[in-house]
Amino acid sequence: MAAASSPVLCPSSRFGPSSSRGFHGHTLTLRLPHRPSFLSTGSSRWLRVSASVSVSVEPETKAQQDDSRDIPLLSCPICYEPLIRKGPSGFNLPSIYRSGFKCPICNKSFSSKDVYLDLTVTSGTTEYSEFKPARTELFRSPLVSFLYERGWRQNFNRSGFPGPDEEFNMAQEYFKPVKGGLLVDVSCGSGLFSRKFAKSGSYSAVVALDFSENMLRQCYEFIKQDDTLLTTNLALVRADVSRLPFASGSVDAVHAGAALHCWPSPSNAVAEISRALRSGGVFVGTTFLSSPVNTPLPFTALRPLRQFFMQETNSYTYFTEKEIEDLCKSCGLVNYSSTVRRAFIIFSAQKP
Ligand SMILES: C[S@@+](CC[C@H](N)C(=O)[O-])C[C@H]1O[C@@H](n2cnc3c(N)ncnc32)[C@H](O)[C@@H]1O
Repeated sequence: MAAASSPVLCPSSRFGPSSSRGFHGHTLTLRLPHRPSFLSTGSSRWLRVSASVSVSVEPETKAQQDDSRDIPLLSCPICYEPLIRKGPSGFNLPSIYRSGFKCPICNKSFSSKDVYLDLTVTSGTTEYSEFKPARTELFRSPLVSFLYERGWRQNFNRSGFPGPDEEFNMAQEYFKPVKGGLLVDVSCGSGLFSRKFAKSGSYSAVVALDFSENMLRQCYEFIKQDDTLLTTNLALVRADVSRLPFASGSVDAVHAGAALHCWPSPSNAVAEISRALRSGGVFVGTTFLSSPVNTPLPFTALRPLRQFFMQETNSYTYFTEKEIEDLCKSCGLVNYSSTVRRAFIIFSAQKP
């Protein structure tokens, strides 16, 4: 039975009792349109990786056990069971890239594509495809992903966003109670903040997570310009914010910069973030407000019409501050607080 509400598992027992169901003769074939520089393979665009075929898992050495304490569990996006990992230890890009992951319950394998680990439900499908609303699909485009940190994001300042450095400092203040824990930067885009969180040394590991393959590729392009980031505990994961690949209660901090208005269902997303956070865990988000001050009565009356229009036109969904607070509360989060500057809001809420 899927452990949707299972407690955090001891990292040193991450292979658990199901480890005997490891990869049996499993071979991964990875397509590499852009060969990552950390792989010293030949010129072939296809890389064949044979994962370990041993059925029983060898006992870990003391050093490996110590090492694994800092390594977060990635879980199956279908049943939330922690994934069995085979490959080198460590949570940096090269070691994750060389690892294979498998759900012991669903029996589904997950592997890295290009430079990110694909933990979407549809990972590996050959025929099935589905499209999200335009506000999600827009960011999957290679052009938008390329332009994002090259002008697109800077435009946000005109609406009151204070800029990445100050936004980062504000987020770090909120994250003080969870210093040293696992931080997931959901909807990280090209990793503007993931890189800052990873470089800060404030977290045991950072997961840069986005639904857009091209944003994650851009993220890798930026990461490889900085050698220290390649050996930092920083993973690139493709996932849907409404289906986070983490066991319930296993994440210390979730950051979502300029993302709430892009999500297909903000309520499903915040509920999912709340599920993944451990007790005391902190969620910090920024977005554009539909109105920077309390909405006056006539506009409140028009709100359903506005929401309907936004859904129909598939444009971004903007909320008032009261709506965001209400959303956090309805997803079981407490200690809501925020700072507003014109249309910019940074808010934080905590898992009780
Ligand atoms: C405006 S960008 C924000 C990037 C970055 N966090 C920042 O602060 O600049 C919004 C991001 O949300 C991502 N996104 C949209 N829908 C998503 C979903 N369903 N799951 C995960 N990410 C999603 C997009 O791919 C895009 O990268």
